[in-house]
Amino acid sequence: MMRRLVTTMQNLGVLNFVLEALRKLGLLKIAYRTYEKALATNASGAKSRSQAEGLPLPPSDLMVLVAGSPDVDWFLHFGKSMFQILLGTLHKDGVRVESLTAVLEFGCGCGRVLRHWRSIQGPQLYGVDYNVRLIEWCRKSLPFAQFSTNTLYPPLSYRDGMFDCVYAISVFTHMSEALQGLWIKELKRIIRSGGYFLFTTHGESFRDRLTTPEREAFTAGDLVVRYEEASGMNLCSAYHPEVYVRQRMSEGYTVKDMIPAGTQGALHQDLYLLRRD
Ligand SMILES: C[S@@+](CC[C@H](N)C(=O)[O-])C[C@H]1O[C@@H](n2cnc3c(N)ncnc32)[C@H](O)[C@@H]1O
Repeated sequence: MMRRLVTTMQNLGVLNFVLEALRKLGLLKIAYRTYEKALATNASGAKSRSQAEGLPLPPSDLMVLVAGSPDVDWFLHFGKSMFQILLGTLHKDGVRVESLTAVLEFGCGCGRVLRHWRSIQGPQLYGVDYNVRLIEWCRKSLPFAQFSTNTLYPPLSYRDGMFDCVYAISVFTHMSEALQGLWIKELKRIIRSGGYFLFTTHGESFRDRLTTPEREAFTAGDLVVRYEEASGMNLCSAYHPEVYVRQRMSEGYTVKDMIPAGTQGALHQDLYLLRRD
């Protein structure tokens, strides 16, 4: 019902107008949280609960916070596909994940991807997110990994060079440029020399979503961010041209792989694999 209303407003071309009005009234974030709550009442996909591989499933409202949908099928399908894409991308660069010592998912949500690491013997697994409810659920439900909360801003409590792999799926896609800069620096601090950093962005395949002025900025190589005052929420969305990622987010790393829409079958976001110099 709620999703249908938003789609109708989008089709009528009035969605941006309504959002802008809510923004002016200072009600944008509250309205978005209300929208997310309404979405969570429509849980679906119960058929695939058996594919949860013996691990609990998060409640619908937590699924909506990370996936924008309470659909269990999508939650499980996306998580597994993304996990396999991560492993495949590292493997292509000669990395056997079993030989890693410590792996961190930054912005791990309710473990949509992290839950699939349970089958991997070897690395110590860590997850961190600024949303306390998501982390509380992970602590209770995914005991094979260690979880912490952070604040919207750095730092993290981990020591310098502690991780040989950090990944962030659909996290920089929801932050202002300033906040992204702070996190890029902080994650670089905790990745060891020779370690890996994988992350996804809304790239070229999201061009159609942009307005004309946004598209012009994107084409010129600029980062486009909508609703940056809602950084950390899915309402805030960032669009990264490849040239921006290479010039502004990769300092101190070698870009080992860039797969346009590399999360195909999952999110269609671009996937970057960087190795710390
Ligand atoms: C779209 S969700 C993706 C969650 C998870 N990576 C996944 O793929 O299921 C974005 C996640 O980033 C988290 N997040 C956003 N800003 C953050 C920050 N500054 N520090 C830690 N986590 C953050 C959100 O709480 C949310 O769980």
